[in-house]
Amino acid sequence: MIKVDNLHRHFGAFRAVDGASLEIATGSITGLVGPNGAGKTTLFNVIAGALPPTSGTVTMDGEDITGLPPHELFHKGLLRTFQIAHEFHSMTCRENLMMVPGGQSGETLWNTWFGRKRIADEERALRAKADEVLDFLTISHLADHPAGAVSGGQKKLLELGRTMMVDAKIVFLDEVGAGVNRTLLNTIADTIVRLNQERDYTFCVIEHDMDFIGRICDPVIVMAEGKKLAEGTLDEIKANEQVIEAYLGTGLKNKDQVATV
Ligand SMILES: Nc1ncnc2c1ncn2[C@@H]1O[C@H](COP(=O)(O)OP(=O)(O)O)[C@@H](O)[C@H]1O
Ligand SMILES: [Mg+2]
Repeated sequence: MIKVDNLHRHFGAFRAVDGASLEIATGSITGLVGPNGAGKTTLFNVIAGALPPTSGTVTMDGEDITGLPPHELFHKGLLRTFQIAHEFHSMTCRENLMMVPGGQSGETLWNTWFGRKRIADEERALRAKADEVLDFLTISHLADHPAGAVSGGQKKLLELGRTMMVDAKIVFLDEVGAGVNRTLLNTIADTIVRLNQERDYTFCVIEHDMDFIGRICDPVIVMAEGKKLAEGTLDEIKANEQVIEAYLGTGLKNKDQVATV
């Protein structure tokens, strides 16, 4: 689905992404791991249109999408999740979901005057969609709670829910488990798997928690120093000498620690 070919993103003389080539297969939950500073987030930013590449190409289903702005990628179904912004904290969980789709008729003056019925219909459809998403996430009981008042893990579910408002094809998740307790991490993992199996979402997931990666990701791609170092199942990459070396280079003492990075 996604093919990254010889991608570079430099910051001055520093090569954060340094000739990365990798593929994300349709229907997969692909893990992206690697030591801190490997260039994973920068790679996501380039793929998702937040940063222009220095050189190289990104294609989606054969179409060149290199450097397209996020809103165009959004319309193609390529999304990366963002944390719920502070300004949305006082809105309810349902309203946060209803905010997502662009192009609502309510926005133009013309429609305000002449399209009241259409706006009302659209709001009703949006609300129904938001409620369906909350139901899928098993957080219907939070519909009327302010988003700022729900737990960290529930916010993560809400972030995933925002991708469901637009029926994403591929979703990029950067450290979705950071600061989330084990139980909620499992709920997030289950939700990702359900979206993958029931809604045909493809995922690319950056995560430090190897239990999480091992549970849901196949394949796992290891990135180090701006490029792909290895790819395989979690067991395969854990047994890979180059991978162990890359993690050792960051100060780890033995390969068992790869499991906990
Ligand atoms: N905007 C930037 N300006 C300069 N250096 C950056 C910038 N963004 C990232 N870097 C550097 O690029 C390297 C890779 O960072 P990052 O992509 O965040 O790695 P990872 O997500 O794998 O930990 C780091 O050394 C980081 O300091
Ligand atoms: Mg990062």
